[in-house]
Amino acid sequence: MGRKKCPAISVGCTAIDAEHEMQLGMLEELQHAIAKGRRKSKIEGLLTQLICFTMSHHQSEQLLMRLYAFPGYAAHSDEHQQLIERLKKLRRQFRNDEVILTAAWGETVEEWLLDHIRGADAVLGKYLCEAEPVNPMLMVN
Ligand SMILES: [Fe+2]
Ligand SMILES: [Fe+2]
Repeated sequence: MGRKKCPAISVGCTAIDAEHEMQLGMLEELQHAIAKGRRKSKIEGLLTQLICFTMSHHQSEQLLMRLYAFPGYAAHSDEHQQLIERLKKLRRQFRNDEVILTAAWGETVEEWLLDHIRGADAVLGKYLCEAEPVNPMLMVN
């Protein structure tokens, strides 16, 4: 599951970068399925996979934020919540035939993910590069 289309992104923290690679790989799989006109259940399954992985990725970022006493925890977590709500709303609309998942929607979802990665996650990554963990036994880099 290689990621070819999305530009390279790094927030400077290897643990987070690896998860973003997986997240964007799942997005690419979804975009391919849309482009190839795969059946609705397949596309919904891939969107669900992306949502579930993104939720677990958010949990791991939020754990790092707590371990490193990140001051922007609340605002960053709110962004996570909003992103998940957007993705779940899209899935609900798709399931109810209120939305057709086109390539344009694939691009929109990509924008949602990349905006967060390049914004809030980049700030977090920079902080983690310089911060000491609350407990030094918990170094991630
Ligand atoms: Fe992230
Ligand atoms: Fe994040």
